[in-house]
Amino acid sequence: MKTANIADLREQARRRLPTMFFDYIDGGSFSERTMRANEADFDDWLLDPLVLRDVSHRDLSASFLGGEHALPIVLGPVGFAGLFAGNGEAQAAQAAAAAGIPMCLSTFSICSMEEVARAADMPLYLQLYILRDRILCEEMIERARNANVKALVLTVDSAVSSIRERDTRNGFRTASRLRPGAALDMALHPRWAADMLLSRRPRLGNISPRCSAGRNFMDQVSFLSNQLDPTLRWEDIRWLKERWNGPLVIKGILTPDDARRAVDHGATAIVVSNHGGRQLDGAMSTISALPSVAAAVDGEVEIFLDGGVRRGTHIVKALALGADGVFLGRAWVYGLAAHGRSGVADAISLLRAEFDLTLALMGVTSIAELRKTGTRLRRTQP
Ligand code: FNR
Repeated sequence: MKTANIADLREQARRRLPTMFFDYIDGGSFSERTMRANEADFDDWLLDPLVLRDVSHRDLSASFLGGEHALPIVLGPVGFAGLFAGNGEAQAAQAAAAAGIPMCLSTFSICSMEEVARAADMPLYLQLYILRDRILCEEMIERARNANVKALVLTVDSAVSSIRERDTRNGFRTASRLRPGAALDMALHPRWAADMLLSRRPRLGNISPRCSAGRNFMDQVSFLSNQLDPTLRWEDIRWLKERWNGPLVIKGILTPDDARRAVDHGATAIVVSNHGGRQLDGAMSTISALPSVAAAVDGEVEIFLDGGVRRGTHIVKALALGADGVFLGRAWVYGLAAHGRSGVADAISLLRAEFDLTLALMGVTSIAELRKTGTRLRRTQP
């Protein structure tokens, strides 16, 4: 059957992946309330069309973080993507390059930033955590500079790692060794298993060999997870800015006050994000948070939104409410898990087509025009 939308890619990913990995991608924290709200709350906004306006030529391009891009879309940071398809991050980067959009690589990626930079020619951003071991962190920043990384994306919503109950049940990331059931789970998904066997043994590509040497994969994961530093404060942004003078994006902002703090601490841009509902369950959805954040920022820095973006209409709504672009999370990873590079390309082109059609049907021909007509979005309830 032909793939009609992102939900189809999700279903194909579910069939191809061992349950433990699909659940890791698909799940959120605690009751998954915030995760569900991210997607559902886009429906709180209705689009008002204007008809009989020549929409024969449409320009979907967007400029942000110092570059011109074919779409207002970034492939956002997703940890362990190289476990969902062999060399997954490199394959995704190739799809991003072909579509003319940037990719942001997770600190927790399998392919290293150098491998991804070599694999594809597109603006590469690196998602970073400020780690307890600042020397390790400095090494990553230095490598990012050498790999021609265009922006650092500092994730700030993960002072501690939340509980994801599906992972608890599956023993994913919670055990130091795989459960016996995990081997069966993998064997029951032979296409995935063969792909993995053909690719390299997994290791976390962004931590220095000094830290990965002598540690098996699970030990590397727990080593890096233990490096997340719960003592971090706004003042620590200065430490980062002294070492990185390129664009700095702060990811994980939900309130107007924190948005102002990010601006005051010298961020180039922010990502309105709740980590796809994987951290603070009960936090508001990102599309609900966006309008007041955009008002507080008042155009001083660029704004991205992520969380629940599965449709072109979602992108239209985010831009109309003040975002300069969106980061995709699960949407591209479902594609990767389902069909590797071509699945990521499918995810991007499905969203491109829906975004393009939605603009046309609203009587709008460019992002600039859409943002001017933000008032043509109505809330279903006050
Ligand atoms: C993530 N996300 C994430 N964010 C980050 O800053 N560093 C990371 O390593 C990860 N890892 C990660 C793994 C998986 C499997 C998922 C689904 C998400 C969060 C991600 O960047 C983004 O904020 C959300 O995925 C956006 O929500 P949607 O689009 O997935 O609903």
